[in-house]
Amino acid sequence: MAQETPQGGSGARGPEGQQTLSNLLQESRRFAPPAELAAAANVKADAYDEAAADRLAFWERQAGRLQWERPWDTVLEWDAPFAKWFTGGTLNAAVNCVDRHVAAGRGDRVAYYWEGEPGDARVITYAELQDLVNQAANALTELGVAKGDRVAIYMPMIPETVVAMLACARIGAPHMVVFGGFSADALRGRIDDSDASVVITADGGYRRGAPSALKPNVDEAVKDRPGVRTVLVVRRTGQEVAWTEGRDVWWHDVVERQSTEHTAEAHDAEHPLYIMYTSGTTAKPKGILHTTGGYLTQVAWSHWAVFDLKPETDVYWTAADIGWVTGHSYIVYGPLANGATSVMYEGTPDTPHRGRWWELVAKYGVTILYCAPTAIRTFMKWGDEVPAQHDLSSLRLLGSVGEPINPEAYVWYRHHIGGDRTPVVDTWWQTETGAIMVSPLPGVTEGKPGAAMRPLPGISADVVDDQGAPVPNGGGGFIVVSEPWPSMLRGIWGDDQRYRDTYWSRFEGLYFPGDGAKRDEDGDIWLLGRVDDVMLVSGHNISTTEVESALVSHPKVAESAVVGATDPLTGQAIVAFVILRGEGADDGDALVRELRDHVGASLGPIAKPRQILVVPELPKTRSGKIMRRLLRDVAENRQLGDVTTLTDSTVMELIAAKLPGAK
Ligand code: WT7
Repeated sequence: MAQETPQGGSGARGPEGQQTLSNLLQESRRFAPPAELAAAANVKADAYDEAAADRLAFWERQAGRLQWERPWDTVLEWDAPFAKWFTGGTLNAAVNCVDRHVAAGRGDRVAYYWEGEPGDARVITYAELQDLVNQAANALTELGVAKGDRVAIYMPMIPETVVAMLACARIGAPHMVVFGGFSADALRGRIDDSDASVVITADGGYRRGAPSALKPNVDEAVKDRPGVRTVLVVRRTGQEVAWTEGRDVWWHDVVERQSTEHTAEAHDAEHPLYIMYTSGTTAKPKGILHTTGGYLTQVAWSHWAVFDLKPETDVYWTAADIGWVTGHSYIVYGPLANGATSVMYEGTPDTPHRGRWWELVAKYGVTILYCAPTAIRTFMKWGDEVPAQHDLSSLRLLGSVGEPINPEAYVWYRHHIGGDRTPVVDTWWQTETGAIMVSPLPGVTEGKPGAAMRPLPGISADVVDDQGAPVPNGGGGFIVVSEPWPSMLRGIWGDDQRYRDTYWSRFEGLYFPGDGAKRDEDGDIWLLGRVDDVMLVSGHNISTTEVESALVSHPKVAESAVVGATDPLTGQAIVAFVILRGEGADDGDALVRELRDHVGASLGPIAKPRQILVVPELPKTRSGKIMRRLLRDVAENRQLGDVTTLTDSTVMELIAAKLPGAK
């Protein structure tokens, strides 16, 4: 992956790894856990030692949180790089997420407070969820779906999406959820690769105040695909849909007439639970395979530990789409396995107004909120007064995921959303890891803005140099995982060689996630973004994250993206794109000078951007990650690469218009 960097910056990461700038190490703000939370925390400091003393015994105890039909014989079979966890054990993920809570007398507990974008709402208890899942499982069986068959799910954020996933899990048909914002082409590629025979979709969903169609994309994706026998369609918006007789069926026709009884079979611990394709900015998407027992163990434990979940009293909200792994692990499987009450919201944060999230927090009394830095920076840009108009006093814990969180965004989040009461847990993980790997523990860790801190108990992660040797405190390099973990990917669907090549060939015997990282003087870990995003300026490795965080720490900057552009003098030069806080802010030369000096003052003169462009928007993937590749194209005056995975392809025109010399 690093080899794909056009500037070849990766080759120079060896000894220079030690030369990374040290600004982040100078971040001195510390936030101790609130005393009350710490005293009642689910996980205390002794968990680290307990897990370190016997890692497998630790995970074995966590597997005991689940209901097993048959206990496992062996905790871990490790035939590197292929892991099998809890072999010999059998269980059913849907039973663990739903039925056992009902059987234990908690059927009346709310599983989801669901809110549609137009303001329609549904409250679904565990008992109701059980009926819905059983009906859907019966319907899938009637439609000929058998254990092992792959089912594609292309849906808006509605309760039926969760029901469909759990129905698949119940009958042992691996689901393959494709984010509803993806195109027909993306959907077709994933259907082809996973060989799915059924697609579950909806007429559409609500986005930005209007119905947004999904069914036409499915029609487009599966025409000439006789392998897709059935398209099961939920009516959500009432939009008109084209209909292919013999292939298309309405959810309300086949699911609602089914029995609410269904006897679940227990599946092997290693039975495939789902495939999730990673976005992959350049290459063909990889079908990441997750299985049942280990995955459910780690998502359940991590959700309980990292969010200090008290299922009886908390109202938990992961504000992400189910089409991402964040949604799989922390909207569906983790919260349900723990019997939690969750909020699920269909739409965009600014519909019908920019306070929609905060209105939802107040309405449902949300206690734990988990979202991405890109959302936090957007709220910063919209202004402090928006959340200030809402009662956010129910919140007791905040989480962040998806990108490094800039220290300033962390502090803003904690102050303006968390009222300075709430710990912020910056959780590092990936689609491939299945669950959180590096994160503070809210009742234990003294938080540092911008640091993901330490591997969770039971996780062996480290920061290593170019040769794979652990770096000392104060050193920089790459994050790696050195021991198998229960929710690790079991491979890439249909491509074992690619699995080895991508994750296990960079360092002998170590899992390589592809992220840069460093260890500060206390030994705490800071994630520095994808290794492709590290710049080499006059022989110094500088991470885009560091410069971006320096820019965001200036009071006038809401968001920034930094890239390295080829430069005849310095090898690479830093080019920064910034969005200012508040509307109509001045973007003149004086401000640009001020920002350059500000970066120079916080990071040292070497990190001063050669160029700073004030832009109205940044190019982002649909999961909210900045596409620096396209900005590099702009900075180097190249023709733009593939823009099809952008949320909004007109953004690049707006940015190009800001370039010197643009008409
Ligand atoms: C990549 C994985 C994890 C679920 C959502 C994204 C980046 C994720 C953090 C964090 C710094 C982070 C990494 C990682 N990332 N969380 N807390 N700090 N970087 O899943 O799409 O598979 O992306 O997101 O670069 O490798 P994904």
